[in-house]
Amino acid sequence: MNQTTKPTAVIILPTYNEKNNIKKLIPALFDKVLPKVKNWRFKILVVDDNSPDGTADQVRKLQAKYQNLDLLTGQKQGLGKAYHKGMDWAVKTYQPDVLIQMDADLSHDPALIPQILDKLENGCDVVIGNRYIKGGAIPADWSLKRKFLSFCGNFVASLMLFNWSVRDWTSGYKAIKTAVFQDIKDEMNKKRFNGYTWQIALVNKAIQHNYKIGFVPLKFTDRRIGQSKLGSEYIFNTLFYLIIDVVKNPPRFYRFALIGFFGFLVNFFGLAFFSQLIKANWADLSVGVRNTIANSIAAELSIISNFILNNLWTFGDRKLIAAKDIIPQFVKFNLSSFATGILIPSLVIGLGTSIFGDQYRQLILVLVIVVFTVPANYFIYNKFIWKDKK
Ligand code: GDD
Ligand code: MN
Repeated sequence: MNQTTKPTAVIILPTYNEKNNIKKLIPALFDKVLPKVKNWRFKILVVDDNSPDGTADQVRKLQAKYQNLDLLTGQKQGLGKAYHKGMDWAVKTYQPDVLIQMDADLSHDPALIPQILDKLENGCDVVIGNRYIKGGAIPADWSLKRKFLSFCGNFVASLMLFNWSVRDWTSGYKAIKTAVFQDIKDEMNKKRFNGYTWQIALVNKAIQHNYKIGFVPLKFTDRRIGQSKLGSEYIFNTLFYLIIDVVKNPPRFYRFALIGFFGFLVNFFGLAFFSQLIKANWADLSVGVRNTIANSIAAELSIISNFILNNLWTFGDRKLIAAKDIIPQFVKFNLSSFATGILIPSLVIGLGTSIFGDQYRQLILVLVIVVFTVPANYFIYNKFIWKDKK
């Protein structure tokens, strides 16, 4: 941020029929909140989509009193589009350091702005007003349907993007450094993000570009005046976006799981193949010996395929290239595969069946693999085999 002069933040308020809300919000910002923040310069930009209630005229009236208030008008193309247009225009017009987006219906407490800017000054690139962290809240009187929608939206987003730290993907109260917007604005300029899908996509893209995300607790209050514009467009577009994104940029854990499943198939079909091969060539070996040998070969092949594919894909960003790195890590990989995939499950199965009975044998195997082997392997790969050197 500019050291000699004060940095500039633009607060972008998208409006559609918010005449009576904007009448209160803009004075609250200019008269109460912003004068307290001495080390920043502020502009407010209202992006109004020709609201039939005359929001734009209300803004023009306010402009007579507040010089740092601007108005951008246009056709209604959705919330995300309004943000994209507004941010683009603000960047060109003011060359600001920071862009703040907030709802214009008084749901977002303007008094959080100093805290949000504080986080940005202390190293965050994006700050989210978060309803689902300590100190945050959703309105107690929200309908069950609305609570369910918000909870599900966040859960599905967290699961599909495999990121449990954001928690409030859909919050509309956010601040981003201009550099972040410049970096992702072309990717955000898609029809899919014209509506409320904008919210999740912006956070996700910032994370994918390795920007640092910070949070400020937000107590969301429901609007008193006017009505919400959130509709079913949101659910459809958001799900569609999440599916496309998971396929395009599968999170590391999903890559790991897919490769693990492929390794299982190698073992499964390898066992059948080598069992037949040995039978055909060494007919005098007993069935037990034959299958023990066959499974050892098949299991080792699956370990090799897991190692190669995880190295190339799951941990492609930390790829081991030199033989001097590959060999010791491959040895460790074998040892840990033996411990987590064979030794410990075998001991647990032995112990479990001796306590609960043989009828639980297969169930115990599945449980051990899901509860222990998968997470343990993921942990070991991350911490010991393909350690993040940064
Ligand atoms: N210019 C413009 N164009 N503004 C719009 C449009 C549009 O098409 N659609 C909505 N807005 C404005 C509203 O006027 C309001 O200022 C703000 O965007 C939020 O819209 P609401 O209709 O009040 O949204 P909500 O309260 O139901 O949804 C809240 O929760 C969502 C999910 O967590 C908001 O905080 C959203 O931003 C959030 O994504
Ligand atoms: Mn609202």
